[in-house]
Amino acid sequence: MDLIVARAIHVLAVVVWIGGVGFVTTVVFPSFRARAPQERLAGFVRFEERFAFQARITVALAGLSGLYMVAKLDLWARFASSHFWWMHAMLGLWLAFAAMLFVLEPLVLRRRLHRAIDGPDGPRLFARMERLHQVLFALAAITILGATAGAHGL
Ligand code: HEM
Repeated sequence: MDLIVARAIHVLAVVVWIGGVGFVTTVVFPSFRARAPQERLAGFVRFEERFAFQARITVALAGLSGLYMVAKLDLWARFASSHFWWMHAMLGLWLAFAAMLFVLEPLVLRRRLHRAIDGPDGPRLFARMERLHQVLFALAAITILGATAGAHGL
């Protein structure tokens, strides 16, 4: 019963979190890209700060529920086998987002972004962030395909 609940929470957290990343990547970035170069970053930063709050909660829930399943089902040995590449992919993706949202963003990125808004670096930073989101969203899609197929026996 508790494992079923953990799985349901895991999937809900992943849907809200990666769904948000997909929306930001495919809708928000292109619409801010259509604006004047100096306005892009300012508009995006305001938007991203709201999403970052949601993302922190869903990333924490996905991680806790995932770890609970690993511990309860004693799945640690999977991390020693390349057959379970999707377990490594889940953990790797989670670590990347957790580092960004809980460490880099509050300690470094937020200040850097606000400083860049009015500077000459704004458009370049915006383009780099868009590329990073595209890569992360593609990796997340591969991870979801691999994890769902892998968890159901493929
Ligand atoms: C600390 C990070 C994570 C851990 C420890 C973790 C762990 C797990 C475990 C143990 C399962 C069940 C596997 C099984 O039943 O054989 C699972 C399922 C799954 N996870 Fe994760 N996960 C993590 C992060 C993620 C991330 C970042 C994503 C998506 C990008 C993800 C997507 C999924 C999906 C789609 C399933 C399959 C659900 C199903 O169809 O039953 N997980 N995860």
